[in-house]
Amino acid sequence: MKTKITELFGIEHPIMQGGMHYVGLAELAAAVSNAGGLGTITALTQKTPINLANEIAKCKDLTDKPFAVNLTFLPTVNAPDYPGYVKAIIEGGVKVVETAGRNPESVLPYLKDAGIKVVHKCTSVRHALKAQSIGCDAVSVDGFECGGHPGEDDIPNMILLPRAQEELEIPFLASGGMADARSLVAALALGADGINMGTRFMATKEAPIHNNVKQAILDASELDTRLVMRPLKNTERVMNNSAVQRLLEKEKQLGDNIKFEDIIGEVAGVYPKIMTEGNMDIGAWSCGMVVGLIHDIPSCQDLITRIMNEANNLITKRLNGFM
Ligand SMILES: Cc1cc2nc3c(=O)[nH]c(=O)nc-3n(C[C@H](O)[C@H](O)[C@H](O)COP(=O)(O)O)c2cc1C
Repeated sequence: MKTKITELFGIEHPIMQGGMHYVGLAELAAAVSNAGGLGTITALTQKTPINLANEIAKCKDLTDKPFAVNLTFLPTVNAPDYPGYVKAIIEGGVKVVETAGRNPESVLPYLKDAGIKVVHKCTSVRHALKAQSIGCDAVSVDGFECGGHPGEDDIPNMILLPRAQEELEIPFLASGGMADARSLVAALALGADGINMGTRFMATKEAPIHNNVKQAILDASELDTRLVMRPLKNTERVMNNSAVQRLLEKEKQLGDNIKFEDIIGEVAGVYPKIMTEGNMDIGAWSCGMVVGLIHDIPSCQDLITRIMNEANNLITKRLNGFM
């Protein structure tokens, strides 16, 4: 399939794997890219720019296809060494960067000068337009369904994607709630040029995470995610568990007086314990509503091949049959 996104990134299929903390390591990124999609290494999971440089080198050993690096700008006082990460990305010869969290204007000139394509992930049309105006090559539009941070507008992709198409000139990926060929074909119909998947790629053979996490995804339904940190205007969609219940209880009790310190135990530093050690009730971890559509753990190659084959059938048989 050829779209503006496959052309822009130089990939075979219009399917990207979004950055995921403690999931987006070289193994997964390379597996997605080898299957013809665009895999992504998550920069901040690497504690230092040197570690990121090593992870990029590892990914290059595993694939000769293009892959991306996700650079997430966090709302923290002590910012990570962003210039160092950008240097590692440029010197590592990375072809695509996925930015997220806030306006990437400060790093854009460096990335563009190095010939890197920048796709900015955003949750609203106004932020997508801003990204377009500062020179991003594409955006990834994350609907309310998405795992991770859906923003504060709560607009699901059925509305957000056609709204993005009405306003944008640059190509965009549909992100949030994407799982299979039905998602891809629907996203294309709604105006996107490809899809970005997070949660679905966690339940793959190559995802470098504990089996308990993959099993939790298989066991969960679309009713099993919750929104946390809404009172802090840092809303995150996570898998429900006992830590999340505890966190929500604190939010209820403390109301508008809640501070980040009140919930630090449930959200700070929990990812390695969950993703690496499989300690499923230790804290909150991002997970999309799409979890209700995930019923198996294929390889990335099998997943992407299946999506593309079924998309072909959907378009040529089911949809064409209506005409
Ligand atoms: C476990 C997990 C961790 C994530 N970590 C990040 C991150 O560090 N930076 C980021 O920009 N997005 C992050 N995301 C969001 C994904 O890149 C993607 O936008 C989102 O998962 C899409 O929604 P979906 O899960 O419905 O496919 C994360 C998502 C998940 C599920």
